[in-house]
Amino acid sequence: MGPGVNVDGVPRRTIWPTDGGRSVEIIDQTRLPHEFSIRTLASVEEVAVAIATMQVRGAPLIGAAAAYGLCLQAQADASDSALDAAAETLRATRPTAVNLAWALGEVRAALRGLPESEREAAAWRCAAKICDDDVAGCRAIGEHGVKLIEEVWRQQAQRRPVEVLTHCNAGWLATVDWGTALAPVYLAHERGIDVHVWVGETRPRNQGASLTAWELLQQGVPHTLIADNVGGHLMQHGRVDLCITGSDRTTATGDVCNKIGTYLKAVAARDNDVPFYVALPYSSIDWSLSDGLTQIPIEERDGNEVRRVTGRSDDGRMLEVEILPQASPVANFAFDVTPARLVSGLITERGICEASRQGLATLYPERS
Ligand code: MRU
Repeated sequence: MGPGVNVDGVPRRTIWPTDGGRSVEIIDQTRLPHEFSIRTLASVEEVAVAIATMQVRGAPLIGAAAAYGLCLQAQADASDSALDAAAETLRATRPTAVNLAWALGEVRAALRGLPESEREAAAWRCAAKICDDDVAGCRAIGEHGVKLIEEVWRQQAQRRPVEVLTHCNAGWLATVDWGTALAPVYLAHERGIDVHVWVGETRPRNQGASLTAWELLQQGVPHTLIADNVGGHLMQHGRVDLCITGSDRTTATGDVCNKIGTYLKAVAARDNDVPFYVALPYSSIDWSLSDGLTQIPIEERDGNEVRRVTGRSDDGRMLEVEILPQASPVANFAFDVTPARLVSGLITERGICEASRQGLATLYPERS
């Protein structure tokens, strides 16, 4: 695989500036797995819509997209008031992943004190660095996390695939390249370890079914799609060696907020002595928070995401169909919090640590 994740055999990032720096291009994730469609974004408003409608999604990728949004704003009008308004528009798109606010803060800091004429170029440089750092960070997460898979592989009495369970999409598509939870899987596969991934469909938007399954297929990694509520059963029957998920926001005390349903997997993992790891870059850590349950804003999305499912009909058309009685009310909480006590360890670009303030301090002493 070499430089990163491939699409049809070609290494690709999930976001990139177009020639001349007039716009950015993204893969429209709302069309996958049925269509690989590239969309051009040429204004901060278009970036905001792409994030809100989840054409781009996944915590690190949202951050990268927001950074490019500020570049497009700086191109149109680089005054402080215009940049502040653009940052607010972007910040309001999705509340839970802290990478969004983090990336906006990075770009604003890079422009501070610069004359307006120099701001656009500085913004593009900063956004490119955010992307390059994300790629390097995810690759490093892979290097640290693969040791956990290698360990299971080494300790087996009889050769069988190492069984990893993941949730949602914390892969290449959620980042600029490599992914967080899936980076260790990709490296294990590259190193010849027989690894198999259980992929939870991840209702209501089915990012596991539509995105994780698709990208594992692109990489040739063996996987099986399961309904969301199957994970506990598999763990009870010894069919999961370890769980690895991503994180949209991790507190300084190691509580982890991730896609709704992550908590239930962690509870089942604890009940069955299955290690439960969470993979994340430093840009997902909110150092200002100490209690995930009460302090992390949980996104509530449109109820239609619960009410309907999207798919492809036999004649190739994309369709949305309703699956419940029209009069039934719905609730659509998009994330939940897994308390640090249920997390076996945090896999970061600097190594693996205990999910606790002390654990994070060993890897990030500058923040303790
Ligand atoms: O709502 P989404 O699709 O943006 O949620 C994505 C997740 O919850 C991922 O697990 C997450 O961003 C992990 S970071 C790679």
